Amino acid sequence: MRVLVTGGAGFIGANFVQQTVAERPDARVTVLDALTYAGDRSSLAPVADRVSFVQGSVTDADLVDGLVADADVVVHFAAESHNDNSLTDPSPFVQTNVVGTFTLLEAVRRHGVRYHHVSTDEVYGDLPLEGGERFTPATPYNPSSPYSSTKAASDLLVRAWVRSFGIEATISNCSNNYGPYQHVEKFIPRQVTNLIDGVRPRVYGAGANVRDWIHVADHNTAVWAIIEAGRVGETYLIGADGETSNLEVVRTLNELFGRDADDFDHVADRAGHDLRYAIDATKLRTELGWAPRFTDFRSGLAATVDWYRANEDWWRPAKAAVEARYARGGQ
Ligand code: NAD
Ligand code: DAU
Repeated sequence: MRVLVTGGAGFIGANFVQQTVAERPDARVTVLDALTYAGDRSSLAPVADRVSFVQGSVTDADLVDGLVADADVVVHFAAESHNDNSLTDPSPFVQTNVVGTFTLLEAVRRHGVRYHHVSTDEVYGDLPLEGGERFTPATPYNPSSPYSSTKAASDLLVRAWVRSFGIEATISNCSNNYGPYQHVEKFIPRQVTNLIDGVRPRVYGAGANVRDWIHVADHNTAVWAIIEAGRVGETYLIGADGETSNLEVVRTLNELFGRDADDFDHVADRAGHDLRYAIDATKLRTELGWAPRFTDFRSGLAATVDWYRANEDWWRPAKAAVEARYARGGQ
């Protein structure tokens, strides 16, 4: 099977490519990645000899057309992915997330290629902290940020291309991922690398916000389950019942570093900060038989801390610039 992976040098994409190469000897993987600040070719170093790498943008119609023509399935991870950045400059989010998806859909339509669209639970907006409500595939779209609104727009393009042009596509909306190779701008790697540097964790606002954490390896087994057995035109929500408040995350990290659990700083809150995300993954579990392997968040977090300790060469070059940017916003 010829698999075209967009955004394969990013966090989830690189894990997907490494897992695919390790577990699917029949897969011939090509990565298309623009190598923005978030992409790192060294994340593919362990499988470099088994993967074709093309540096370029998903908005480049000619490049995309040739690569899609040569694929059996396209798995679209490439995106601008960080909410905070989308508040500073939404422009690349519109280009990559909306125009890039449009460009891929047109190529997929021309060549009749199977397409899987990787999206986020943030398209549904947020939930109250209390009450236990969870997102389902029937939850109305209600995105809050420039990032999540461009992801929502891209999902709607996919749905329209399925209905109007009959393309063979599936969509997945996943909750917050953690694990190796995540950029230091994101919450967990930022705190882990701060702690390695002896800096107190930084919590936005009061820290009561809840995210539904899933290990990146579990996200990727779900993506493969959908590609192989998902029904065309359907949306699957991916989540592993990992609801945890930001306060709980930093307390656990402090404990893993042998520190006082409550030794952290509150910093300026994010504008429009979503309160809570929670996924009901019943459809994925019952229809496709998927189940997560990483069910204990604390031990998954401990393994992630170990990875950042062992791979300072990977994250160190980006750290100072990320912290300088946060400092300018009082975060
Ligand atoms: P990331 O920012 O770590 O990686 C994005 C990758 O896309 C990078 O390698 C970057 O170079 C590449 N890219 C950016 N613009 C591009 C362009 N125009 N053309 C080609 N490549 C480009 O992101 P991530 O966290 O790995 O997220 C991957 C996908 O999963 C995104 O679509 C995101 O919306 C979705 N998602 C992420 C999470 C999460 O918790 N991180 C959860 C649910 C869904
Ligand atoms: O839910 C899926 C989404 O999860 C993905 O679509 C996004 O691509 C991904 O970045 C993530 O979005 P979040 O905004 O939830 O993730 P982030 O890591 O930026 O922040 C997680 C929570 O931690 C959020 O409530 C904001 C908070 N936070 C973040 C940082 C960077 C802090 O309290 N302190 C911080 O320093």
